[in-house]
Amino acid sequence: MFELPQAHTIIEPFKIKVVEPIPMPTLKERRHALAAAHYNLFNLHSSVVTFDLLTDSGTAAMSAEQWAAVMRGDESYAGSRSYERFEAAVQDVTGLPFVIPTHQGRSAEFLLMRAMLRPGQLVLGNTHFDTTRANVEGAGAVAVDLPSPATKDTAALHPFKGDIDLEALERTLTKEKGKVALVILTVTNNSVGGQPASLANARAASESCRRHGVPFFLDCARFAENCWFIKQREAGQRERPVALIARDLFQVADGALMSMKKDAFGNIGGFLALRNRGLAEAVRSLMVVTEGFPTYGGLAGRDLDALAVGLKEVLDEHYLAYRVRSVEYFGQGLEQAGLPTVKPWGGHAVYVDAARALPHVKPLQYPGQSLAVALYEHIGIRGVEVGSVMLGTRNPKTGEESPAPGELVRLAMPRRVYTQSHVDCMVELAGHLVPHLPELKGYEITWQPDVLRHFTCRFKPL
Ligand code: F0G
Repeated sequence: MFELPQAHTIIEPFKIKVVEPIPMPTLKERRHALAAAHYNLFNLHSSVVTFDLLTDSGTAAMSAEQWAAVMRGDESYAGSRSYERFEAAVQDVTGLPFVIPTHQGRSAEFLLMRAMLRPGQLVLGNTHFDTTRANVEGAGAVAVDLPSPATKDTAALHPFKGDIDLEALERTLTKEKGKVALVILTVTNNSVGGQPASLANARAASESCRRHGVPFFLDCARFAENCWFIKQREAGQRERPVALIARDLFQVADGALMSMKKDAFGNIGGFLALRNRGLAEAVRSLMVVTEGFPTYGGLAGRDLDALAVGLKEVLDEHYLAYRVRSVEYFGQGLEQAGLPTVKPWGGHAVYVDAARALPHVKPLQYPGQSLAVALYEHIGIRGVEVGSVMLGTRNPKTGEESPAPGELVRLAMPRRVYTQSHVDCMVELAGHLVPHLPELKGYEITWQPDVLRHFTCRFKPL
C-alpha cells in the first residue's frame, strides 16, 4: 500500500453539465465591431466577445443544486416558502435576524440610505462602491473614503489592502461628532482592486463606531472571498472554517448589504440584513413602493431559492481555494507576459496598470481605454477602464478635465465560467501584444453625457 503526495494543481472543483459556445470573431470582425461601438466596450454586443471579463457580477454559472432550487420556487405573492428558505440561509450565514430581499445590491443601498440618512450627514467607509456613493449622495449626505494607507503603492504586497484606515476613522468620528450617520466596510474592497479587510480591522472599526454611537455595516458582496483571504493571511485563522470566520465578521456588524450577484452565484438579487427591528420596519414600509412586498423584494420565488443555495455553496473551501488561485494564476500569467498588474491580486479581478504599460500615453489621452481597446481588438477580452474616463473629474461649465489617481483596466473573472485553458490562451496572446504596446495610441472623447460618462461616451483614436 502506498499513498501519493497531495497534488499541487488546484482543480476546478466541479464538472460541466451545461455548456454555452463562446463567440470566436476574427480580427477583422473585432475591428469592425469596435468602430461601430465608437471604441466604447460597453457598446459591444456580447456576440462578438470571446472572453467577457467586464464584470464578475451576475455572470456566474449556477450549480445543478441551484437550478434544482429554481424548480422549487414558490411564486406566492406574500409569505412564500422560497422566502422562508432565503431568510433562513441569510440568517444562518450572517447571524443577522431581520432579512429583507432586494432585486440587487444598489436597491438595498437605496433603501438603507433613504431610511437612515438626513441631508448633510456623513457616511464613512474603506471605499464606497460607485452605486453606494450615488445612493448616499442621493439622500443628501456625503460619502467619505478612508482607505488603508497601504493602497498608495499599487505594487506593495500588503495582506489587507482593503482595510479601513482606523486612525482616520477615529479622527473623523471625533471631529465630526454627531454628523456621522453610518460606517460601511466593503469586503472585499472592490474599488481598490478586490483587496480584503482583516477581521482585526473590522473588529477595531466596529469598536470605534460603538464608542461613538454610530452604526457599523458591511457591504458584503464578496464576503466569502474576503473570509478566504482572512483564513490564509490573518494570524490564528488558518485552521478555522470559513463559515465561522464569516460569522465572526458579521457578528461585529449592525447590518449588512449584499449584491448577491457576486458571492451568492446569483444572476440577480440582493439583501439587506439588520439587527434593529425599528430600522427593518422602516425599510419594509419604504420598499413596497419600489421593490415590492417585503417577502420577495423585486425577485421571483425561484430567484430567492437559487440564491439561498448559492449563499451556502460559496462557503465551500475547495471552491474558494480554486477561485482565489485562478485569479492569482491569471495575474501571474499576465505579469510574466509583461503586463504590470496591481498587487497582490484580489479576489475577483486582475487590474492591469495601464499607466505603467503605456507610459507614452498621457492620462487625458486615456491609457486605460487604449489598453482595454487593444485587449479586445487583439485578444477578444472585454475588460473595463478604471481610470480617467471612469473616475476623472470634469468641470461641467468649462469642460476642463482632471485625471484620475490611477489608470487601470479591470479584468473581472465570472465565477465558475472560464477554465484554465481560457486563461492560458489570454496569457499567451498577451505575450504577443506586449512588444506592440509602444505602438498603441491614445483616445479622444467625441461625445459624452453629463454623468457616468464611461457607460455611453464615444471615442476616436488619436
Ligand atoms: N457593492 C459592491 C462592492 C459592488 O461591487 C457592487 C457592484 C454593488 C455594491 C452594487 O451591486 O450591481 O447588484 O446593484 N459591482 C459590480 C461590479 C457592478 O462590476 O463591480 P448591484
